[in-house]
Amino acid sequence: MNKFETLVSGVGNLIKTTKYYDEWSEYYDETVKSWNYQAPKKSIKFLKETIDINPKNILDLACGTGLFGIELKKKYPKSHIYGSDISKQSLKIALGKKIYTKLQIKNFEQLHNYKMKFDLICLIGSMTYCKNFNKLFANINKNIKEKGFMLFTHRIDLWQQQDFLRILKNQKTLKITKISTPLNYLPSNKDFKNKIKIKIVLLQKYKQN
Ligand SMILES: C[S@@+](CC[C@H](N)C(=O)[O-])C[C@H]1O[C@@H](n2cnc3c(N)ncnc32)[C@H](O)[C@@H]1O
Repeated sequence: MNKFETLVSGVGNLIKTTKYYDEWSEYYDETVKSWNYQAPKKSIKFLKETIDINPKNILDLACGTGLFGIELKKKYPKSHIYGSDISKQSLKIALGKKIYTKLQIKNFEQLHNYKMKFDLICLIGSMTYCKNFNKLFANINKNIKEKGFMLFTHRIDLWQQQDFLRILKNQKTLKITKISTPLNYLPSNKDFKNKIKIKIVLLQKYKQN
């Protein structure tokens, strides 16, 4: 099987996923550019068109090599952007882009410990790898400010299989602000093309009643 066919079916457990992205890290940026990877630019555009914020602190979960971090930095040059990922090799590349205040190796399903709460937490191109939504949302809830936002993308094929809207509606403290229409994800990749699309979602944190 072509290495990248596993992107559609899922890479596997955490160890396999880490190895996969570690090995890919050096070529990741050029490969996804050749596939016309659209999630980072489309997510920033969606955010800009939906809300007008000036976030002091941003957390880029599963930041990888920093492709979404670049878009965040262009839009919010004064923000402090923190990043985390399980792939050490991807984080090395992200570090070289000099856009992150701090990077750490961490699974997004584990609680992250920061001194401050974030105005914006993002998870772009990576919800596919979430095995336990309760753990991910517990991490978000712990680290997001009240009235802060969470921005993420999710593949529509998985969304349907997982009944993902129900999962979102079950979140007691994170409320849906907006969900995008279906958008192209990797239009120049033969396995994704216009068959596998994504939605972009913006949630806002509220106190539980
Ligand atoms: C398709 S890349 C997206 C990277 C970046 N957000 C972007 O838009 O280019 C998926 C990333 O998710 C990371 N990842 C996968 N599972 C993870 C997990 N459980 N916790 C943290 N990062 C994870 C991978 O290491 C990889 O860097």
